[in-house]
Amino acid sequence: RYRDQGAADKMNPFAEQEAWEEHQIGKATMKYGSKNKKQISDDYQFVFEDQIDFIKASVMGGENIDNEEATELLEKSMAKSALEKLQEDRKSLPIYPYRDQLLQAIEDHQILVIVGETGSGKTTQIPQYLHEVGYTKRGKIGCTQPRRVAAMSVAARVSQEMGVKLGHEVGYSIRFEDCTSEKTVLKYMTDGMLLREFLGEPDLESYSVVMVDEAHERTLSTDILFGLVKDIARFRPDLKLLISSATLDAEKFSDYFDSAPIFKFPGRRYPVEIHYTKAPEADYLDAAIVTVLQIHVTQELGDILVFFTGQEEIETAEEIIKHRIRGLGTKIAELIICPIYANLPTELQAKIFEATPEGARKVVLATNIAETSLTIDGIKYVIDPGFCKMKSYNPRTGMESLLIAPVSKASANQRAGRAGRTGPGKCFRLYTAYNYYNDMEDNTIPEIQRTNLANVVLSLKSLGIHDLINFDFMDPPPSEALLKALELLFALSALNKLGELTKVGRRMAEFPLDPMLSKAIVASDNYKCSDEMISIAAMLSIGNSIFYRPKDKQVHADNARMNFHTGNVGDHIALLKVYDSWKETNYSTQWCYENYIQVRSMKRARDIRDQLEGLLERVEIELTSNASDLEPIKKAITSGFFPNSARLQKNGSYRTVKHPQTVHIHPSSGLAQILPRWVIYHELVLTTKEYMRQVTELKPEWLVEIAPHYYQLKDVEDSGMKKKPRAEEGQGL
Ligand code: CDP
Ligand code: MG
Repeated sequence: RYRDQGAADKMNPFAEQEAWEEHQIGKATMKYGSKNKKQISDDYQFVFEDQIDFIKASVMGGENIDNEEATELLEKSMAKSALEKLQEDRKSLPIYPYRDQLLQAIEDHQILVIVGETGSGKTTQIPQYLHEVGYTKRGKIGCTQPRRVAAMSVAARVSQEMGVKLGHEVGYSIRFEDCTSEKTVLKYMTDGMLLREFLGEPDLESYSVVMVDEAHERTLSTDILFGLVKDIARFRPDLKLLISSATLDAEKFSDYFDSAPIFKFPGRRYPVEIHYTKAPEADYLDAAIVTVLQIHVTQELGDILVFFTGQEEIETAEEIIKHRIRGLGTKIAELIICPIYANLPTELQAKIFEATPEGARKVVLATNIAETSLTIDGIKYVIDPGFCKMKSYNPRTGMESLLIAPVSKASANQRAGRAGRTGPGKCFRLYTAYNYYNDMEDNTIPEIQRTNLANVVLSLKSLGIHDLINFDFMDPPPSEALLKALELLFALSALNKLGELTKVGRRMAEFPLDPMLSKAIVASDNYKCSDEMISIAAMLSIGNSIFYRPKDKQVHADNARMNFHTGNVGDHIALLKVYDSWKETNYSTQWCYENYIQVRSMKRARDIRDQLEGLLERVEIELTSNASDLEPIKKAITSGFFPNSARLQKNGSYRTVKHPQTVHIHPSSGLAQILPRWVIYHELVLTTKEYMRQVTELKPEWLVEIAPHYYQLKDVEDSGMKKKPRAEEGQGL
């Protein structure tokens, strides 16, 4: 849909716009100018086959062993040899020779900074080492990861290595998904989840060790964790604290943690040849695809890893590569395409770790999750377009937006390093050497300095931390950003004038959601529509992976989607309709297929919704439903999202009300062709323009009614427009 747009698209303005937008995404240029593990599966097979034959022979030739028994025997011995193989593998990791030294250092010091190359075994091995020498007798070992996929896949791997079922001794916990049990002693989790655990257990008493892993990523949650764990370490001398990472300004971390010692161990690294493009690429998506095919046709076998900025790009690239490969005929080697991104369903994630069959080549299309969080063995070629998706925040206006930005030199070097893990490799940078040396930042700016802080401020307040200005930040956020967060929480009635948590705020803090969304849920109590509101919140939490558009059925898919928008109800209500219709069919998979809806996303939404329902009970909000009247639902949404209001301009663009800025309705919105006079939006996304995503029509007087401390009458008077009321106004409301 990216290159060859069919005639069907042209008839459908919506399709065209989306394709166009994606094209533009690919087109961004550099801002300033222009055998290792995975052989395992192979080996497994040999071991398995040998043994199967052996066991079969003995079974058949021998006594009357019944089938079940034979199978059990077979399984046991297979599991055993697989386990043995995994144990051998553990010993071949670069960290293994340092096991005892490392354990000694941990024994000797309360806080330790650990630095070692990606893939050397930090995440999977250190918690196991600690378990082997008895730390888990005193409490759990928690290991944080900035990314959900990493937490899940590492936990899965470790449970295999320990020969236990995932969720038993080894488990993981990510937002809306807890795969742990009473038995769990090694707990992998996202940094955000550990942060939430502080709310229930402020001294993390059930832990004997906390390992803040991938510390160099400097996500917002990791940065806040630094302050919190440093604090509890003072009054819990028995707690061990490990700060680990691949690349790290180790001194800086050591300084922050009261001169904690640094444990550095060497990794294995083979040389990686770096190639730059001669001139800036006009379209990195296309350039990346061409490079994949060139490597495949001209270079010796070895897997390829390409870094894209997100799911959409990856899916587009996958389609185009498949299409072009077909055009190359049957003479060339098989190319196996493996996408990996945060929302990729768990079953498909395992595929990237599978060994590439003999004579074939694998190409992994990844987001920067593959930069350091996940190690894929056998990568020989890396293609780095030089971009990633990044959150940016304007503390002056309080507006946050996702955009595609050039990566830092540190990131680029990590990316290149992925090619040299198992042998010499090559990295193709789709930017010029000049760009690299002159335009790219040395390091990525920590998230805390470029994000909306309302969520953490709410968490910290509910932890009883009031003096935020003097909180022990490794790098403090801009003070305007802190102020903006306080202002927003005050506007949402989560804090009172003294900056103290209110009852509303306490309720909001229970929900693992953005404060605006939490507020909408809490407010739905007043509008007697909490039932509908949690469905909407669950659907919004899925992101934009609900609908899909197969290339050959785009018109059908778009029609199916527009069905939910009948009456121009707005995107929030459309999401509710999708959820409710699915529920009415008794959660039918067939129904999803017919409506071009991803059944996996829907199941996840149902899961999230169930959890939100549980949380409602916890904060004593009754489940109430008001299906016949949409206005209360829209008002509940407005109670949370009133700061995100925008008014139509004469030229068809919108202007945000509070901090005037030009924005547009995203082409995927059901209101993109309707252009209501007043709207409220869920989020802003910056691609070629600043787009509002998930939009609902609004009556301006609601703003004054719901947020009188935030909006005054003059803000919502239609001064810029002719006063003549439109006939259809208010119809969908
Ligand atoms: O944390 P670090 O980057 O130092 O390494 P790790 O994640 O502990 O990975 C050690 C080894 O385990 C690597 O060779 C990976 O290939 C393997 N591994 C895996 O096979 N599957 C996973 N889900 C995670 C790691
Ligand atoms: Mg790791």
